[in-house]
Amino acid sequence: MVAYGTSYHALKDRAKLSDGETLLVLGASGGVGLAAVELGKLMGAKVIAAASSENKLQLCREYGADQTINYSKDDLKSEIKKLTDNKGVDVIYDPVGGDYSEAAFRGIAWEGRFLVVGFASGTIPKMPLNLPLLKTASIVGVFWGDFAMRNPKQNMENTKMLMKWYDEGRLRPHIHKTYELKNTARALEEIMNRKVRGKLVIEM
Ligand SMILES: NC(=O)c1ccc[n+]([C@@H]2O[C@H](COP(=O)([O-])OP(=O)(O)OC[C@H]3O[C@@H](n4cnc5c(N)ncnc54)[C@H](OP(=O)(O)O)[C@@H]3O)[C@@H](O)[C@H]2O)c1
Repeated sequence: MVAYGTSYHALKDRAKLSDGETLLVLGASGGVGLAAVELGKLMGAKVIAAASSENKLQLCREYGADQTINYSKDDLKSEIKKLTDNKGVDVIYDPVGGDYSEAAFRGIAWEGRFLVVGFASGTIPKMPLNLPLLKTASIVGVFWGDFAMRNPKQNMENTKMLMKWYDEGRLRPHIHKTYELKNTARALEEIMNRKVRGKLVIEM
């Protein structure tokens, strides 16, 4: 619920993603990232998935990504321009932070929205404020936990929509691996080492 709840709130309520727009997802094979790829497609967007390996990008394609960028070897800004005929992307979903954020922002479209979701890289980026000015773009914060507490009715509506899509088989949470409770440390280590695609499950 956290991964899908966050990504749906971010794309629908914060970015107001609309049909036909282009969405770039960073960390696209991770927990919230893969949910954003799936939801972006359901909401009618063209989705560009960015991640650090071919194996991760392959999973993103299986979840509907139209195009992919391997940011461990290719330059984000120039790849975005190449894939969008220089127009840039309308919405950027960023749960990673670090150096990727500014590089991605430099590929945003006119009136684009940059969603600040998290800092899995461990570094909170700083952004030159001439960049949003030059594209009339917005930097938009996302805090699903607080949103759910402040707007429980709206969050319930979102949850109902997500459960409907899930019941219809249109959302398929990806389980990378299942661990027993006693092996939780190993599971966390796997996440820290950037080895996980989708979610890990800990069985109680
Ligand atoms: N704002 C909110 O409401 C909200 C809600 C939920 C989660 N979050 C935040 O969103 C972030 C991502 O959560 P998640 O559950 O999707 O995590 P995750 O499954 O671990 O995915 C994070 C992705 O970040 C990338 N990454 C880049 N550098 C990394 C590093 N040094 N260590 C680990 N991963 C790295 C990895 O993809 P590549 O290897 O492809 O780069 C990884 O797939 C977290 O910071 C979390 O706190 C925010």
